[in-house]
Amino acid sequence: MEALEAAAGLLLGLCLLAVGLYCCYVKYIHAKYDHIPGAPRESFLFGHLLILWRTLRKREFMHDLLLQWAEKYGPLVRFNAFHRVSVMVLSPEGVKEFLMSPQYPKDRMVYGRMFNTLGERCLGNGLVTVCNHEHWRKQRKVMDPAFSRTYLIGLMETFNEKAEELMKKLEEKADGKKEFSMLTMMSRVTLDIIAKVAFGLELNALSDDQTPFPHAVTMILEGMTKTRIPFLQYMSGKEKLEVRESVRLLRRVGKECIDQRREAIQNGKEVTLDILTQILKGDALEETRDDENILDNFITFFVAGHETLANQLSFTVMALGQHPEILERLYAEVDEVLCAKRDINHEDLSKLTYLSQVLKESLRLYPPVPGTVRRMEKECVINGVRIPANTSLVFSTYVMGRMEKYFKDPLTFDPDRFSKDAPKPYYCYFPFSLGPRSCIGQAFAQMEAKVVMAKLLQRFEFQLVPGQSFKLLDAGTVRPLDGVMCKLKPRSTARGCQE
Ligand code: HEM
Repeated sequence: MEALEAAAGLLLGLCLLAVGLYCCYVKYIHAKYDHIPGAPRESFLFGHLLILWRTLRKREFMHDLLLQWAEKYGPLVRFNAFHRVSVMVLSPEGVKEFLMSPQYPKDRMVYGRMFNTLGERCLGNGLVTVCNHEHWRKQRKVMDPAFSRTYLIGLMETFNEKAEELMKKLEEKADGKKEFSMLTMMSRVTLDIIAKVAFGLELNALSDDQTPFPHAVTMILEGMTKTRIPFLQYMSGKEKLEVRESVRLLRRVGKECIDQRREAIQNGKEVTLDILTQILKGDALEETRDDENILDNFITFFVAGHETLANQLSFTVMALGQHPEILERLYAEVDEVLCAKRDINHEDLSKLTYLSQVLKESLRLYPPVPGTVRRMEKECVINGVRIPANTSLVFSTYVMGRMEKYFKDPLTFDPDRFSKDAPKPYYCYFPFSLGPRSCIGQAFAQMEAKVVMAKLLQRFEFQLVPGQSFKLLDAGTVRPLDGVMCKLKPRSTARGCQE
């Protein structure tokens, strides 16, 4: 009995010692970073986590809190969470230095968490999340041809065909009364497009209400959001099972798709030079086959290739519904360039300049990917402030895009900021990130966005359903909380155009 008590006492003593030593370590970290400005810490150990947790629990938009901190403490803002410190960098010089250079890798602490989602391998070492530079460079190099200008021009036919299917679905709703979520419709069309052009899959998400894929993607993104918050990934329950099942579903479909394509290649069949072919080519160049990495990229493109775009499109519809004068200008442009033309070609897109401006402005105020994170391994000085080695640096286009310092009257939706003669934003606007790790799908996404928006504008008048919040939701990507509820009517007057 005495021995047991002694052992318990020793264990308790060791635990207290460990806690004491850990607290000393946290104190040492605080001392190392406290010269960097930041909001007051609410707790010695939790640092700024408590306030972030509260914001998330109240379903408030966390990035608005970061914006407040940026205005108050910027251009560098420190966050503490236990012994970890991150620094948000809000100066154009800092953005240029760290995003444009290949020397600063993506932060493993952040992107590594997306390797698995709630215990299932998810984005793994796919193109978005891979942190090792050499592994990333090899993958990017083989993927680039599937995003070349010539290849993208060849995709116009599919963009047109699928956008036409969306228009048919919208026509069924266009009685001026039916209310529907624009986000849902945009998610479905962008999903159908990426599945077709990337993997040769006909998902028919637009016509098949029972398709499991849109929900699976939502669940995966929700799972990823959860894994960002310490301790939440250890929660069990129905939701966790659903997330895991969604990841398994996508990996299963990916596997079938890959097997079929490999068989076709082996049988000498002609295959399109799409993203899947590129992924398989890349794998064939490797000494050892890595089917898991191929599946990582399948999910990466499946998710990254449509969700962000659906959000951009629905935010754009939301902004247009709130700004009738901008909508009128767009109608006029679309009528002048396209009239009632159905088959939009690449040259037409370059003439839709005001539409490009509107899409850019939408990404300034509502960037689906609010920012990115880099790891800085050596000590350096940013804006005259010394930053210790091994710090995570956070870059936010959402925050910088809403700062008066960089954009006059920043909360006003004004596409003329992006007109030909306006000064170009200097490293304070990066919805597709910048530098080597910038979005491979940027041109693809903006071509697709223009085709879908142009067709929508050719055919419909839309109205936002009153009473919705227009708030933003951080759900892995930034999306409209209430889904942009709309009512549609066929357009009565397309000025100077005939069917
Ligand atoms: C409006 C639409 C889109 C937005 C706003 C967007 C935004 C971004 C951003 C900000 C990044 C950098 C992420 C980071 O640093 O963590 C990124 C990377 C990436 N995006 Fe996009 N994206 C869009 C559409 C697409 C599309 C359509 C595809 C594929 C067809 C795509 C594929 C990728 C891939 C593979 C990467 C990783 C690139 C690399 O690290 O080499 N994205 N995207």
